[in-house]
Amino acid sequence: MFETLQAQPADKILELIQMYRSDPREGKIDLGVGVYKDATGLTPVMRAIKDAEHQLWETQDTKVYTGLAGDPAFGDAMIDLVLGDAVPRGSIAAVATPGGTGAVRQAFEMIRMARPEARVFVSNPTWPNHLSILKYLGMEMVPYRYFDEATCGVDFDGLIADLKTAQKGDVVLLHGCCHNPTGANLNAAQWDEVIAVLQQTGATPMIDIAYQGFGEGLVEDAAATRKVVASVPECLVAASCSKNFGIYRERTGLLMAISADQSATALNQGALAYLNRQNFSFPPDHGARLVTMILNDEALRADWQDELEEVRLSMLGLRTQLAAELQRLSGSDRFGFLAQHRGMFSRLGTTPEMVAKLRTEHGVYMVGDSRMNIAGLNAETVPVLAKAIIDCGI
Ligand code: LMR
Repeated sequence: MFETLQAQPADKILELIQMYRSDPREGKIDLGVGVYKDATGLTPVMRAIKDAEHQLWETQDTKVYTGLAGDPAFGDAMIDLVLGDAVPRGSIAAVATPGGTGAVRQAFEMIRMARPEARVFVSNPTWPNHLSILKYLGMEMVPYRYFDEATCGVDFDGLIADLKTAQKGDVVLLHGCCHNPTGANLNAAQWDEVIAVLQQTGATPMIDIAYQGFGEGLVEDAAATRKVVASVPECLVAASCSKNFGIYRERTGLLMAISADQSATALNQGALAYLNRQNFSFPPDHGARLVTMILNDEALRADWQDELEEVRLSMLGLRTQLAAELQRLSGSDRFGFLAQHRGMFSRLGTTPEMVAKLRTEHGVYMVGDSRMNIAGLNAETVPVLAKAIIDCGI
């Protein structure tokens, strides 16, 4: 029977990992998949995670099933981290999921279950896997303008005009912070306008927040999400712990469904638990438990926040250095946006041909839409990248 299967398109981001690994050149630079790397190129286990793992090894005496929603303590700790006290706890249904991708997938499934004909508005561009999962689920998607190729900032007028065409029963997918793949983000006043449009149209927002703490800071990065959930009758929020806790392979995420009408919470909770049961039953627990321990222990939490801030500042430093180096080499400010962007990524704003040239001639690996993982750089490779960009005539 399997001979009827058709070859699936390779994931553009994951494909790059393989290409990079099989390139024998010394001095190649990996700016592909969104994984944090320190100055030595390592993706370290964060200190607080190691400490929590030691404690867990000493104290954990069972690995019996948790619940379909995962350990409620994880939900509570993450709700506090992401939403703070933006809305009453009684208005939030939440389930642990396998990573942020699992949360996104379950969110789409919940939308489809509630309203199969819902259209999902997605930023153009967005994380390619958003599109891939929506397509797989057979859901209708509508791109909204987001990136201004000329300025490498947000095309805000285009975004607002497109979001105004959404209707009640549609969903607007927003990136809570650190837009992936562009690095271009809305400011507070722009978020307020987006909220006003959501209120006018009645469309339901869904927020993907996968990089909290990588942009302006832990609380600052959650500000827009908190404001949105407090301003609309219903919202979905998919949160990831992969990046800010550095536990990529542990698959740790949380999906929240918020309803201003608290009588809907039990129904939402039941739907989310049902979807978990159908797709994988109980969510993974190891990463979620470590996150819970860290968030609920003063010393572990302080150490985690310190290390996360070191990570954030190191990426900011690399951005500033790269923008300055490009200004020096090009004699122009046209790369100044790199210092303005936030999060792990920046879209350089060049053609797929130039991206291929950077790879073949200079061993620089970035995604075909010219998304660069800034954390893939270090102080020594920034000048090498800057020179390669200028040499290619970008
Ligand atoms: C990325 O965008 O590179 C990350 O979110 C990793 C992934 O799964 O694509």
